[in-house]
Amino acid sequence: MTATLRAVSWAFRGLHYSSVPLSARMSSQRAHGSCALAEKVAVITGSTKGIGLAIARRLAQDGAHVVVSSRKQQNVDQAVAALQGEGLSVTGTVCHVEKAEDREQLVATALEHSGGVDFLVCNAAVNPLVGSIMGTSEQVWDKILSVNVKSPALLLSQLLPHMEKRGGAVILVSSISAYIPHVALGAYNVSKTALLGLTRTLALELAPRGIRVNCLVPGIIETDFSKVNPNVRLLMLCSVFLPSRIGQPEDCAGLVSFLCSPDASYITGENIVVAGFSSRL
Ligand SMILES: NC(=O)c1ccc[n+]([C@@H]2O[C@H](COP(=O)([O-])OP(=O)(O)OC[C@H]3O[C@@H](n4cnc5c(N)ncnc54)[C@H](OP(=O)(O)O)[C@@H]3O)[C@@H](O)[C@H]2O)c1
Repeated sequence: MTATLRAVSWAFRGLHYSSVPLSARMSSQRAHGSCALAEKVAVITGSTKGIGLAIARRLAQDGAHVVVSSRKQQNVDQAVAALQGEGLSVTGTVCHVEKAEDREQLVATALEHSGGVDFLVCNAAVNPLVGSIMGTSEQVWDKILSVNVKSPALLLSQLLPHMEKRGGAVILVSSISAYIPHVALGAYNVSKTALLGLTRTLALELAPRGIRVNCLVPGIIETDFSKVNPNVRLLMLCSVFLPSRIGQPEDCAGLVSFLCSPDASYITGENIVVAGFSSRL
């Protein structure tokens, strides 16, 4: 087993260094001439680093006004300053997605721009425990389900009155662990599988109001979140296909921009894997 892990680790490292600059780096440097999202307002949770920040940058590059948010004021200030420094239309506020008053503040901040919201990207998530389901306490269950599953639905219900006359789009962020669970990510796997169900149910519920709901399903993406436990990352890679390289946050951002755009106007209830391989038949 150790030898297998070492072999995969080496193979993975070689592929990673040889191919990342060709795609992800290019995508972050691409000149975004598109204004497909001009005059639109996007709210993104957990958007001060990692995948959320890449999505914020991309939607703003594509013309939207973006409201970034996360739990820590300092992180919000840094992200807003960085994106504004790139000439992008961005504001921000603290929003711990579990807190109703923070969600209200996020809605209020978003409405300051033009009185409405077009896109909601629910990216914030936690995994406070690396361990099996049988080892998960009630407290940890409550935390994971509250942040990862309940909060997106509650935030959407607070934003809905301000979205529905604008034909908006909602993107939930699941995980490849919904499709290919790893035992060490027990309750987190379950929360991410629940988001696939939430996507489909919300898509039905909100279709009459002209709002599409889709789901981004990232594979292993290089962020602080995935660095927390490299062994889990490696084991997950061993148990699935070996992707050509590790994903970068920018690999997820383009899909979200597409799902928000008019090109996706007939796509709802879908979940789309961004993992460097396909997990479906
Ligand atoms: N990276 C991967 O390999 C991977 C794979 C599959 C799925 N995903 C999913 O992708 C999403 C983003 O992951 P990431 O890797 O980009 O994570 P990350 O780099 O750790 O960033 C997480 C972001 O969320 C914020 N945040 C954390 N808890 C929050 C809360 N309760 N309320 C509001 N904001 C919160 C953090 O800022 P503060 O600390 O300031 O709050 C930060 O901005 C998550 O839904 C994750 O499950 C990631």
